[in-house]
Amino acid sequence: MRAKVVYFSRSGRCERVAQVLVREIESRGVDVEHVRLEPVRGTSLVGGALLAALRVPSGLAQIPDLSGVNLLALVGPVWAGSMTPAMRSMMDALHDLDDRPVVNVVCGFHACQGVAARMMKELHARGAGIVASRAIGRLVVNDLDQLGELARELCSAALDSTQL
Ligand SMILES: Cc1cc2nc3c(=O)[nH]c(=O)nc-3n(C[C@H](O)[C@H](O)[C@H](O)COP(=O)(O)O)c2cc1C
Repeated sequence: MRAKVVYFSRSGRCERVAQVLVREIESRGVDVEHVRLEPVRGTSLVGGALLAALRVPSGLAQIPDLSGVNLLALVGPVWAGSMTPAMRSMMDALHDLDDRPVVNVVCGFHACQGVAARMMKELHARGAGIVASRAIGRLVVNDLDQLGELARELCSAALDSTQL
């Protein structure tokens, strides 16, 4: 069984969330890799915020290879009430998830439920199996105990759904 944690992070918070997920997945005996998304457009704060507001993808230096991956986890911030341009490019690259379970964590100042809900809908439209999704705000992102609990919950929901 293999898992990939794909994340975008500008100021490090989502990277921390991704690391907690990696540790949780590893603790379940699953072979896990993590990949940071590198946008090719909108790399300045203003440029990135503008693309996010306009719902325009950034393009990616490299699209993560998901061949042989049974569990996908996506972690990224909310920008301008939406997913980041880098995560939008990642979503655009997901054509057929072939019923694979997905863990999705969306981090904002506040818990932006609408962004997580829209991403869940898009993931299902791309053939995802169960999508274990959560929008979290700063209070949770800054609390390692709550993050650990969140990772356990989401990974249980996603992994219990698979027979592998
Ligand atoms: C350009 C920009 C736009 C943002 N817009 C929102 C927003 O609309 N809603 C929100 O709750 N947080 C917003 N935030 C806050 C980030 O989502 C939040 O700080 C996140 O945890 C940052 O993750 P990172 O440290 O991994 O980059 C924004 C941050 C930036 C830089």
